[in-house]
Amino acid sequence: MKISVIGAGYVGLIQAVGLASFGFEVTGIDIDDSKVKMLNNGVCPLYEGGLEELLKKHIGEKLQFTTSYKKIKDSQVIFLCVGTPQDEEGNTDLKYIFSAADKLKKHIGDSKCLVVKSTVPIGTTRLLKERLNGCNIEIVSNPEFLREGMALNDFLNPDRIILGFDKNDLTSKEILEGIYQKFIEKNIPLIITNYETSELIKYASNAFLATKISFINELSKLADKTNADIKTVSHAMGLDDRIGKKFLNAGIGYGGSCFPKDIKSLIKQCESNDINPRIITATDDVNERQIKWFFEKIKKHYGDISGKTFAVLGLAFKPDTDDLRESAGIKLIDLLLKSGATIKGFDYVQKARDNAYNMYNLDKSKAFYGYNLYIFDNLVETVTGVDGIIITVEDNRLNNENWTKIFNLTHEKIIFDGRNIFDSEKMHNIGYVYMGIGSKK
Ligand SMILES: NC(=O)c1ccc[n+]([C@@H]2O[C@H](COP(=O)([O-])OP(=O)(O)OC[C@H]3O[C@@H](n4cnc5c(N)ncnc54)[C@H](O)[C@@H]3O)[C@@H](O)[C@H]2O)c1
Repeated sequence: MKISVIGAGYVGLIQAVGLASFGFEVTGIDIDDSKVKMLNNGVCPLYEGGLEELLKKHIGEKLQFTTSYKKIKDSQVIFLCVGTPQDEEGNTDLKYIFSAADKLKKHIGDSKCLVVKSTVPIGTTRLLKERLNGCNIEIVSNPEFLREGMALNDFLNPDRIILGFDKNDLTSKEILEGIYQKFIEKNIPLIITNYETSELIKYASNAFLATKISFINELSKLADKTNADIKTVSHAMGLDDRIGKKFLNAGIGYGGSCFPKDIKSLIKQCESNDINPRIITATDDVNERQIKWFFEKIKKHYGDISGKTFAVLGLAFKPDTDDLRESAGIKLIDLLLKSGATIKGFDYVQKARDNAYNMYNLDKSKAFYGYNLYIFDNLVETVTGVDGIIITVEDNRLNNENWTKIFNLTHEKIIFDGRNIFDSEKMHNIGYVYMGIGSKK
């Protein structure tokens, strides 16, 4: 079967490479010419563990990339994976979705199945159906749940597959059940529903996880002011099966390309239906405040931070990705720079460091250009001579570093652990002043 995948970002690339590895003949389409060239040369423009190896294996054989929509006419199935960022008011901006739909409309040949994997507000799939009215095409909503940093694993082992159909579109149901046969055989739950339910399942899932994070973050402030220890609270709560331990670690808040924009979009979707979404609004509000609260905590410790130098460990929004979108680390760096501090930044993922160079328009050879910001390629250089170390990403590799050796390299011996990844006692024993979140320990 021939398949097209529109959009070669985090979702589209995994989909294209993953389906090629299943033996389908896949054409990936992206408007970004430089990305397409890189991909055809077997070079992955983004970092996702294992992806480049799989790309290299299939490129030129079962897999190719192009900027032209002409290939659509040979494909039986088209996956739509373009971005759905937020606009200035917090609504979902559907310009990429509609522009892709208008382009593909011109090249649809025989009967086709369009699968919407992008996260879109309730009603969008039906709007697309109207927009493509007159074309011989059935449309399916099939939201994506992959996690950056674990994306290939999530593609191969999804928790569930959601398919939203229009009741008359029977051919596409058969086609998709064929494509996902491998998963159905593994008894991975398949939920067949209508467009609107499918679209809401995606937002509901992200909003619920974000709410868990904001819930524990709100309580971490109470723990911080009392003698309670939020890590122990999370652990004990998580032992209850009904609650579960995941997404219950206090920290400096969620970021990334999905949660922040999806939560804001869901608020807007409720409001446009005359619903006042109190819980989700609070989730968003707590998250916005959390990073500022942590920043104030750092400031309070020093009195004045202008002229101080900090090592910020973690640039991407989570470990094992290069994605800086809505990263808490980047937000903190901005707050610190505005207060006159100097920042030495580090991330274990080289592409995350490269993206930071590009984002701040830094000159790599001088590692400094216009900001008091330096990015380093190794941890030792990053921490040398600093007045404080700030942990912004939950990366367990940090636990394997030699913190006794690092102790001797810093100017002031203080760690602000924004992800509560360290054992406070161990850090105290080395001699650090250790400040985590939601604990006096
Ligand atoms: N990134 C994630 O972890 C994740 C997880 C689940 C769902 N999603 C959703 O999946 C969608 C895609 O997310 P992403 O992170 O892959 O986005 P992305 O920004 O990484 O990639 C989008 C790609 O689409 C391309 N594009 C834009 N308009 C196009 C057009 N008209 N034709 C062809 N290509 C076009 C862009 O050049 C870009 O390469 C979003 O709706 C997002 O919310 C993302």
